[in-house]
Amino acid sequence: MNISIVGTGYVGLVTGACLAELGNNVICVDNDESKIKSLKKGRITIYEPGLKELVRRNLRRKRLVFTTSIKDGIKNALLIFIAVGTPPKPNGEADLTYVENVCSEIARNMMTYKLIVEKSTVPIETGMWVERTIRQNNERRVAFDIASNPEFLSEGSAINDFMHPDRIVIGVKTKRARDLLTELYSPLKAPILVTNIKSAEIIKHASNSFLATKISFINAISNICEKCGADVLEVAKGMGMDKRIGESFLNAGVGFGGFCFPKDLLAFMHISEKLGYDFGLLREVEKINRDQKGLLIKKVKENVWNLKGKTIGILGLSFKPNTDDIRYSPAIDIIERLKKEGVKIKAYDPQAMAKARQELDDVQFCKDPYGVAKNSNCLIIITEWDEFKQLDFTKVKKLLKQPLIIDGRNICDPKSMKKLGFKYIGIGRKE
Ligand code: UGA
Repeated sequence: MNISIVGTGYVGLVTGACLAELGNNVICVDNDESKIKSLKKGRITIYEPGLKELVRRNLRRKRLVFTTSIKDGIKNALLIFIAVGTPPKPNGEADLTYVENVCSEIARNMMTYKLIVEKSTVPIETGMWVERTIRQNNERRVAFDIASNPEFLSEGSAINDFMHPDRIVIGVKTKRARDLLTELYSPLKAPILVTNIKSAEIIKHASNSFLATKISFINAISNICEKCGADVLEVAKGMGMDKRIGESFLNAGVGFGGFCFPKDLLAFMHISEKLGYDFGLLREVEKINRDQKGLLIKKVKENVWNLKGKTIGILGLSFKPNTDDIRYSPAIDIIERLKKEGVKIKAYDPQAMAKARQELDDVQFCKDPYGVAKNSNCLIIITEWDEFKQLDFTKVKKLLKQPLIIDGRNICDPKSMKKLGFKYIGIGRKE
């Protein structure tokens, strides 16, 4: 099929590359000229395992093309995916200006039937606005349909998530739209759920909010564990063995970050309020998440005593492993708070240092974890990269000024760390 994807951010680029890999002809459009110039050469500015190879392979096959022109991009496309950003406004509401602009431009340039698919995470009723905007600007009265097809890609495993999804959700109003999307996704042989457009929009918000709730729930439990001497890993295991609960997203830690959960939670609370429902549960999920970072700092203070002038080593800057994305990363927030207390920060991340350098001043970036440990009063693990699980902790101990590790992701075994002579503090674990 001929497909156009408008927006080459994370979602747009992964979707475009994967649809090309499935044999479609894909044109990706973005108004950022320098980005398109780089993409045409197969240069990608985000780190996502396998994405570079996929883009390059499909560029060579000429199944993936990049352009800055919506007019050229959509000319021969039957399906147009809108995957532009929906950043949060100061009040948490999603800013849909980009979505609106793109819709008007598509409408002004369409000559033949198009199925316009919302892929960006958008509030309920966006579908209706998309349809209205296209109708208003569709002077040639070209036939079109709209659909909502939310993405469930996780950074770090996005290609696998696209190629092997648990489900594909398609929100449509017409049979033609349903048939086109069903045909597009048929090679994936995944369960397809067809709903109305509003349900599809809610499925996305509800799924992300539910996962965030699971994380905050186990983080709340971790606080109780610390107070009574239980171990949150054992508790999570016991809970997760119940099929109705499931073991995933029960890892206690410094909380969730990234550009999806924090933003989508706020947006969902905002939509609910607008619709007349006070989603207080999500307010609490957000508060627990915020508090987790404060609790980590409290642990640092309780063990390092005065923070002013001390050196603290940070392992992990990205919001999760296997990505270089630092947006709403707990590490960035924790570093900023420690800096306010007069702490000198040393840091290392396997992939996110370039992005962190642009964001953070007064941080000494080191070439490896051992450089971070050297002469630090405390080592804090904030992202669970595999590299940190395989550290030579005997060497780390020799390098640290004090043998103190605060493990914000529970990647180490408390007993072994104690045996090595560390004061080891995890999240919700027996010391
Ligand atoms: C999330 C969803 O998982 C995707 O399904 C969704 O498509 C995506 O948002 C989106 O809306 O675009 P992502 O933000 O990439 O994906 O990452 P997750 O793996 O969900 O992790 C989010 C945060 O939760 C990370 O900071 C991670 O460290 C934290 N987390 C996750 C925990 O603290 N504990 C857990 O048990 C799991």
